Amino acid sequence: MSEKQTGTGLLGWIDARFPLTKMYEEHLGKYYAPKNFNFWYFFGSLALLVLVLQIVTGIFLTMHYKPDGDLAFASVEYIMRDVDWGWLIRYLHSTGASAFFVVVYLHMFRALIYGSYQRPRELIWIFGMFIFLALMAEAFMGYLLPWGQMSYWGAQVIISLFGAIPIVGDELTLWIRGDFVISDATLNRFFALHVIAVPLVLLMLVVMHIIALHEVGSNNPDGVDIKKNKDENGIPLDGIPFHPYYTVKDIVGVVVFLILFSVVVFFMPEMGGYFLEYANFVPADQFKTPEHIAPVWYFTPFYAILRAVPDKLMGVIAMFAAIAVLFFMPWIDRGKVRSVRYRSGAFKLLLVMLVVSFIGLGYLGALPATETRTLFARLFSVGYFGFFVGLWWISKNENTKPVPERVQ
Ligand code: HEM
Repeated sequence: MSEKQTGTGLLGWIDARFPLTKMYEEHLGKYYAPKNFNFWYFFGSLALLVLVLQIVTGIFLTMHYKPDGDLAFASVEYIMRDVDWGWLIRYLHSTGASAFFVVVYLHMFRALIYGSYQRPRELIWIFGMFIFLALMAEAFMGYLLPWGQMSYWGAQVIISLFGAIPIVGDELTLWIRGDFVISDATLNRFFALHVIAVPLVLLMLVVMHIIALHEVGSNNPDGVDIKKNKDENGIPLDGIPFHPYYTVKDIVGVVVFLILFSVVVFFMPEMGGYFLEYANFVPADQFKTPEHIAPVWYFTPFYAILRAVPDKLMGVIAMFAAIAVLFFMPWIDRGKVRSVRYRSGAFKLLLVMLVVSFIGLGYLGALPATETRTLFARLFSVGYFGFFVGLWWISKNENTKPVPERVQ
């Protein structure tokens, strides 16, 4: 028996060899989270739930799907019609993709309103941004797999964007596709990346995200540091153990989420063409371009920025900049106060501008471009980038309210 063994029974035996109790206490039983978590704090655990759902349903889809240009479309139809519960597995996975972005966008917005990216949580945010990138890559590659018209032409449009890069552009698109057009070779590599490579990266990043979070501790809707006020045992006065308090609270979020999610899965899995586009029920045809090509809704804000810029290369740069700028949030915001509750009216105005612009861009990006729509897309693009410029500008000498010493 190891000299370290303190407990008895099976748990004691394991603990002497593996830090099970220690890990449980560090991350659940004795992880003291602020007592004032609200609605906005449901989305981290919901993102975890959707991640697990996607992995499990993905495994079952992979058992029946064929990553082959000649067979892929038919194998999806086979899953939908012949495989026992195949339709459910597929709809769970396709709806799960959209749910993932709903949850993650709300999760990111929470970080913006409560300044959760600010010191000392910069790395939580940065890992989060890498998760966001991986998630977009994962969704983009997954969308090619059903090998429908929109799978094919959506991928065609996005991959050809890399062609706008000077000097290496053409070589790069050829390298990504593995062929001169999107083909079986592209489908095969996207399958490999979608099924194993990106999910592995995603899982690793999520673990790092949570380790970083538990190292510095959670922020909260007041943005005050709960570690400043501790009792004689070193426990934050405004902290409560994650388990059982937040495990139970999160169950409420999970139940509400599952109800809404089920309504979509069982009654409107296509969501009016927003979750599954109608053109994707037609097999991929490299000789027939669909009349209107639009990405799935979660990409449309960035797609609208791309189209709002007349020059292709500049458009590509603007689109990537729209994502890249988010990485720098911890340094763009020079304010000392975290929560929107104690920040200035100017900050609130900027937030509203960001939300309106982002939703506006998302709406426009799903529609065919017209002159008026392009004009609005430009306006909203300015609004989107204006948030970051404005925040950098106002946050230095912001007129904030006094932040309370303790959680309210
Ligand atoms: C698979 C995707 C993700 C998962 C599973 C995940 C998971 C979590 C969990 C469980 C928490 C703690 C609970 C909570 O605060 O809600 C958290 C906190 C946090 N996440 Fe994520 N996250 C994901 C994506 C992201 C993204 C994309 C970002 C931002 C770019 C982000 C930024 C943050 C921040 C800043 C916190 C700390 C919030 C605070 O303490 O106020 N996360 N995440």
